[in-house]
Amino acid sequence: MTAQNQPSFARRALLLAGAATGVAIAQNATAQPAPQQNPPSEGLPRAPGAGPITPARGTQLTGKSAVVTGAARGIGRAIAVEMAANGADVAILDICGVVSPASNAKPATSEELAETERQVRAYGRKCLPIKLDIRDINSLRGAANHVEQEFGKIDIVVANAAIQRWKPLMEMDDSDWYDVINNNLNGTANTLRVFAAKMIPQNYGRIIVLSSMQGKHGTKDGSSYSASKWGILGLMKSAAMELGRYKITVNALIPGLVDTALTRYETRFKEAIGETQPNPPEHPTPQQAWDARQVQVPLKVGWLQPEDISPAAVFLASDAAAMVTGAEYEVTGGDSAHSV
Ligand SMILES: NC(=O)c1ccc[n+]([C@@H]2O[C@H](COP(=O)([O-])OP(=O)(O)OC[C@H]3O[C@@H](n4cnc5c(N)ncnc54)[C@H](O)[C@@H]3O)[C@@H](O)[C@H]2O)c1
Repeated sequence: MTAQNQPSFARRALLLAGAATGVAIAQNATAQPAPQQNPPSEGLPRAPGAGPITPARGTQLTGKSAVVTGAARGIGRAIAVEMAANGADVAILDICGVVSPASNAKPATSEELAETERQVRAYGRKCLPIKLDIRDINSLRGAANHVEQEFGKIDIVVANAAIQRWKPLMEMDDSDWYDVINNNLNGTANTLRVFAAKMIPQNYGRIIVLSSMQGKHGTKDGSSYSASKWGILGLMKSAAMELGRYKITVNALIPGLVDTALTRYETRFKEAIGETQPNPPEHPTPQQAWDARQVQVPLKVGWLQPEDISPAAVFLASDAAAMVTGAEYEVTGGDSAHSV
C-alpha cells in the first residue's frame, strides 16, 4: 500500500489556527505528578480520501444541542466539529491536563480545547468549552446545569473521554489498573448518569459511548484498557434497556485504530507491528507501523483519521437512528470483520 505522508488534519488545523481564543470555564482540574509520557510521533500516513470536514455537511442535527467529553482533540474534537457542521450547538468538555501517570498519551491542553471551540464556531454554531474531570460527578452535574442554561436543553451526549495504558498485567502498578478502569468506565458511567437525568424529563435523548475493538477481543499488554472498553459495552446495553421507555437511545461507537495522541507514539507502533510480525524494530517509523498494520485491515488503512469516525456519531445522534439502540457501530476500515 502506498500512502501519502501528510500531516494529520488535527495538526494542520492547529498550525493554521494561530493563537487560540479563551476557554469559558476552568474548574476542578486535579493537580497530579507529571506522567510518564511517550513523545508523540509525527507524520503517520493518511489513507487516500481521508480528509477534513467540509462546510455544509448537512442539517441532520439542526436545532439540537450536544455535549462531547474529551473534546480537546482527536476523535472527540472531530465529533464536536462534525456535529456543528450538521447544525448542532456543542458543549465541549475536557480535563485539559494530566489525567493519570498511567496514561500513555501526552496530556491535552487548554489551547487544544480552544481550537476545538474555534472550529465549532466556524460553522456558526454556539460552543461552550468546559474544563472538568469526568471522574468528578459533581463537576459533571454543574456542567450539565450550565449547558442547559446556555442551550436550553441537552439532546445528545457523547461519552468519549478516555485514557490508555500499555503494560503487561504482571508488571502493572495499582494505578495502571485502577486509574484506567476508574477514568474510562466510572467516568463514562458518571457522564451517562448525569446527562440521562437531563434527558428523561424531555422524553428524548441520544447517548453515544466510545468503546474500541479492544473492547471486542483480548489485548496483549493492554488489559486494563480492554477491560474498561468491554465494560462500557455492558454499560451501554444496560442503559439502553433502562432508558428506552424515555425515548433515549444508547449506542456505542467502535473505532478502529485512529491517528490521535492516544496512538501516535513509538510504543503503540511497536504493538501494532507486533500484531503481524514476531520481532518489531526497536524504533519503528510511522510508515513501518502503517505498512505492517494495513496488512490485516480489509480496506488497507493502517491508521484511520478522526474524521472517518465522526460521521457515524452524527448518524447515531440523528432522527434517522431513532430505532437504533443498544447497538455497537464499528468504523474500523474492516478490521471488525475479524471479530464476532
Ligand atoms: N485512537 C484510537 O485508535 C481509538 C480507537 C478506539 C477507541 N478509541 C476511543 O476513542 C475515544 C477518544 O480517543 P482519542 O484517540 O481521540 O484520544 P485522545 O487522547 O486524543 O483524546 C482523549 C481526550 O479525552 C480527555 N480525557 C481523558 N480523561 C479525561 C477525564 N477524566 N476528564 C476529562 N477529559 C478527559 C483527554 O484530555 C483528551 O483530550 C476514547 O474513548 C478512546 O478509547 C480511540
